[in-house]
Amino acid sequence: MQMYDLIQKTRRKESLSDAEIRYIVNGFTQGEIPDYMMSAWLMAVCCQGLTTDETVTLTLAMRDSGECLDLSDIGAITVDKHSTGGIGDKTTLLIAPIVASCGGFVPKMSGRGLGFTGGTIDKLESISGFSVERPVPEFIRQVREIGCAVISQSGNLTPADKKIYALRNLTATVDSIPLICSSIMSKKLALGADCILLDVKYGNGAFMKTPESASELAQAMVNVGNLAGKTCRAVITDMNAPLGHAVGNALEVQEVIRILQRKEENALSELALELSAQMLELSGKGDLQTCRKLTSEALHSGKALEKFADMIEAQGGDASVTEHPERLPKSNRKMAFKAEASGYIAEIQSEQIGLACLELGAGKTASRPEIDYGAGVVFRHDIGDYVPAGEVLGMIYGASDALCEQAEQRLRRAVRISESKSEPIPLIHGIIG
Ligand code: URA
Repeated sequence: MQMYDLIQKTRRKESLSDAEIRYIVNGFTQGEIPDYMMSAWLMAVCCQGLTTDETVTLTLAMRDSGECLDLSDIGAITVDKHSTGGIGDKTTLLIAPIVASCGGFVPKMSGRGLGFTGGTIDKLESISGFSVERPVPEFIRQVREIGCAVISQSGNLTPADKKIYALRNLTATVDSIPLICSSIMSKKLALGADCILLDVKYGNGAFMKTPESASELAQAMVNVGNLAGKTCRAVITDMNAPLGHAVGNALEVQEVIRILQRKEENALSELALELSAQMLELSGKGDLQTCRKLTSEALHSGKALEKFADMIEAQGGDASVTEHPERLPKSNRKMAFKAEASGYIAEIQSEQIGLACLELGAGKTASRPEIDYGAGVVFRHDIGDYVPAGEVLGMIYGASDALCEQAEQRLRRAVRISESKSEPIPLIHGIIG
């Protein structure tokens, strides 16, 4: 088999056989196919796409490139969740304890921040002592005993995805539906949960800009999951504004705790409750109405807050933050940002908010590899709210006045105020599977 011929076939939109796709994945993972050839093939996939059968084979070949976990020791139906990423998306921190406190089992491997989007693992590491690196047997024991664990991706899972993703990042080949689908689903299948709920985001802060393209990606992922023998569903959700009010690691954990303490309700809590109910339904805990009652009761009774504390303690973290969120890290400086005109908040450009937080130190950059866990932004208003000129729209947290001022300029450009009130965008656009 010659890689040259396979690149040409994909470029001409001719289907590759299973053996040809496995040859590409294994050859590249083992270093036999050089980066320049793989880049050419990835670009051909970006331009011409792959068939459903090719996407399934690519996903399974990537899954099989490393270790696949056996979760049978948990002794119950397990349910995983994946979000395609966005700004202020901290749903995992709510969903894991809510589902676990309703009797579900959530084994979760999460990622770090990527580009302008934050990562669940960085958020958890803002809790003093919290360990995201657990040996697999301990991870499985924790899920069996308390119902949930959130750790970083084990080094042995899907080495093919690690190599291919790094190359895609450098070669403008990230936003391709078969490539995103195979990247995400190979990791989900290698983790091995019985049921998978996918939260596929669209909007100005997501990979997919429209509900149509998000639905296409969701359908591809559900197809692959089902063909691999999993119970799989996708929820298409809005990411045209940050999810919830806080963006930035410790600030997001604080928001999660305030929701679990029943001191705050917003779009984030609404979405987390719905996704949790969908996960419980997938894992056979009753019909959707019953599961919605279970999740609401878990949140309002305080059981989910207790479960979050149990998870933090099991992973070596300071669980007292669930009672005293003020003990989480704080940045040195804070600054208000204000409305420049009176009117209705019409738009909050999520990507710009993510970039402002990255510049404040909430994520790593090539020149600044340290995270300032207290840095970020907390909004006081939502899209559709009326604000008079000069109203405080939110607070900026950073290490210095200069960093806060730089963020303030970006935020001013990111928030659009209009004379007329626009129709609210529904949080959930649709469900597939
Ligand atoms: N997240 C992933 O894990 N892979 C992609 O390709 C895109 C988002």
